[in-house]
Amino acid sequence: MKILVTGGLGYIGSHTVVALQEKGFEVIVIDDLSNSRIEVLDGIQAITGIRPEFVQMDLQKKAEVKQFFKSHSIQGIIHFAASKAVGESVEKPLLYYQNNLISLMNILEEMVFYKIEGLIFSSSCTVYGQADTLPITENAAIKPAESPYGKTKQIGEDILRDVSKADNLNVIALRYFNPIGAHESALIGELPLGVPQNLVPFVTQTAAGIRKELSVFGADYPTPDGTAIRDYIHVVDLAEAHVAALDRLINKKNKANFEAFNIGTGKGSSVLELIKTFVKVSEKQLNYKIVGRREGDITAAYADTTLANRELGWQAKLSLADALASAWKWQLKQEKN
Ligand code: UD1
Repeated sequence: MKILVTGGLGYIGSHTVVALQEKGFEVIVIDDLSNSRIEVLDGIQAITGIRPEFVQMDLQKKAEVKQFFKSHSIQGIIHFAASKAVGESVEKPLLYYQNNLISLMNILEEMVFYKIEGLIFSSSCTVYGQADTLPITENAAIKPAESPYGKTKQIGEDILRDVSKADNLNVIALRYFNPIGAHESALIGELPLGVPQNLVPFVTQTAAGIRKELSVFGADYPTPDGTAIRDYIHVVDLAEAHVAALDRLINKKNKANFEAFNIGTGKGSSVLELIKTFVKVSEKQLNYKIVGRREGDITAAYADTTLANRELGWQAKLSLADALASAWKWQLKQEKN
């Protein structure tokens, strides 16, 4: 019996494959390589000593998905495969609805048919929008999403809630806050295509001289230093949360067919605090200037992680400094390639 990791060569997927293999799970990866590289398999193998079985497949292709499940015995699924660029989703909404939702539905159909024990879904704190109170608990209202990407996460959760109830499936949605950092070995990490949209890859590329200057989007937010606040979680901690969620489903400890957990550190950091911490751990200066706010950005988001701590027995162990040091180590490694 194997654990299927879809999107297992992507940023969070690859770190989760490592965490699963280190816990003794046998993993099979499906990835369409649309936003990942086959060489990630080498990185996973170098860290764990095991090369996971790999199938290149677009999960929108129903016949191929059916064939895959027919020929493999799968115990549980961790479903990462999805498009994730917020800006692109505004330009190409149909691509996002198709890729993110058709893939999910194709997998669910097979899960029902083969009575697969559980599924972990990559959700996002984006489902909350700007929450009314902080820290954000799982009971916070789901606000209208800012982007088609965000909507695919909300709709994905809705689909899972309905199907898990009707067909008695076991599903956990993990609502990630802001994943950053890389494996300590610097053998796997985030590979942004083109100009990074997220803060940390832009910071490390600026420090490395690839980008001239970082724009800090807004210093007029109602926060102590005026810059926006997020909950930055080390991707290695995030990967461990998937293993904890999978254990919960395999050991039948879940309390409902569908459960959702916030996965963050519980601590908010401002953009300027993050820059300060980066400068300290990297010993590099960082060119930045304050510009206007980015459309669609919220003021502050950080997680109440009480539920995940209690129910999953999981909590983030690594600090913002650890995460930024690992992101910098990974960046330096990229330049050598
Ligand atoms: C973004 C997505 C969110 C997605 C998450 C995944 C948007 C609006 N939201 O979250 O849906 O789930 O990534 O990681 O894109 N910043 C700068 N300069 C930059 C880049 C970012 O100041 O060059 C600031 C942003 O304004 C924000 C913070 O850094 O305050 C974090 O930004 P980012 O890394 O893009 O994450 P989110 O916007 O929180």
